Amino acid sequence: MKSFYLETFGCQMNVHDSEKVIGTLEQRGYSQVDTADAADLVLYNTCSIRDKAEQKVFHRLQEGKRVKNKVFGVLGCVAQQEGEKIFERAPHVSLVVGSASYTKLGELLVRIEAGERKVTGLSLDTEDTFETPLTRRDNPHRAYITIIEGCDKSCAYCVVPFTRGPERSRTSQSVIDEAAKLAANGYSEIQLLGQNVNSYRDPSPAGWDFARLLDAVGSVEGIRRVRFTTSHPRDFVKEIIDAIDRNEVLCNQVHLPVQSGSSRVLAAMQRQYTRDQYMQRIEWMKNAKRNIAISTDIIVGFPGETDEDFEHTLRLLDEVEYDSIFSFKYSQRPNTPALKLEDQIPEEEKSRRLTILQERQRAIQMRRNTNLVGGRQEVLVEGSNSSTGQWIGRTSQNRILNFTTAPRPDGTAIPRERMIGNYLPVRVTRAGPNSLVGECAIAV
Ligand code: 5AD
Ligand code: SF4
Repeated sequence: MKSFYLETFGCQMNVHDSEKVIGTLEQRGYSQVDTADAADLVLYNTCSIRDKAEQKVFHRLQEGKRVKNKVFGVLGCVAQQEGEKIFERAPHVSLVVGSASYTKLGELLVRIEAGERKVTGLSLDTEDTFETPLTRRDNPHRAYITIIEGCDKSCAYCVVPFTRGPERSRTSQSVIDEAAKLAANGYSEIQLLGQNVNSYRDPSPAGWDFARLLDAVGSVEGIRRVRFTTSHPRDFVKEIIDAIDRNEVLCNQVHLPVQSGSSRVLAAMQRQYTRDQYMQRIEWMKNAKRNIAISTDIIVGFPGETDEDFEHTLRLLDEVEYDSIFSFKYSQRPNTPALKLEDQIPEEEKSRRLTILQERQRAIQMRRNTNLVGGRQEVLVEGSNSSTGQWIGRTSQNRILNFTTAPRPDGTAIPRERMIGNYLPVRVTRAGPNSLVGECAIAV
């Protein structure tokens, strides 16, 4: 039996790719182990979205350098970005594969097993998506489904079009079939994945767009929650909100990355929308029948961002009142149009802006979460926290709600399997900036 160790960096697309890679390896007779030390084959599924993520990977590779009789492989975005240069920088690496070549992973492994070194899968010239029935899913209740791979946008800061290749969508039939199969296997939450799910276009004659697909996945029997990530404001149409309004199964949560609140910076970023156009999408959500939680991504310190531009971003936070944000300092990436821009912002200034932004948002979140105290939320129970004795639940709006249950009359503890994966109503009793606390009144 051959063993492998796989460590994943980066986004949910990568996490799900790893689930598919693991399925592929297991089918080839490999078994997964928990440490690199115990493995014959050590794989890193890598991220290069910011310099820090990339450095982490090379640091890991450095650690493995001295070990003999192991095969090292680099998968994912750093693999695609650096290609054969990885063999020079880390000569103990034998396999370098970008995500657009995972359909060939089986063949590449055969070559590795035959003793070949410096094996690569780096072509981006593909129409295929990576589909396999062998996906090894980690969470027994929530499952990812990739609906579209790659990205055809050209945001000036972003490596993804270079690391994940051109857009290609799966057929609606294969997506629906996968959702139905997951439901039959006890999964109740589906998360649809893509770098830009809004530009989904069914390649089969049905020709569905994203809103149509969303509606259909939300109608699969046994599926109780559907989320999707990530969206691009330019391709985000009102039909998506209409679908959410129509169908309770579609979670009332939308992640809509804005990146900047300044139309001038948005133009420099090549985002293809203005602040006003973005705000129109926000209006659709605020006017929806359901109370839709909105989150976003923001980059501070893009080249040329002035104090005034940054002020526009802060004011956008106040206007939208996001339920949560992910915020980053701009990081120069290879191949990207912004790399050569003058007017790079000094690191200290980026840090200063990031701190201001995060403090502003923290107060907004505290306020929004406090408004929920006293109300009732349905949670999917995802786990428990042994140190606090609380169960960990997630609301449809994607908030974490830690809660306790009433003691059982006979004093026994509730078995985990009675709780995890269940949907329960919880009364919110307290709020923090990043989570809620509550009590579940019904006897379990
Ligand atoms: N520097 C900083 N943040 C970036 N992101 C993408 N590229 C960069 C970069 N070069 C952020 C964007 C994107 C999120 C996934 O990562 O906000 O939405
Ligand atoms: Fe990182 Fe982007 Fe690649 Fe995801 S797609 S792993 S975020 S570089």
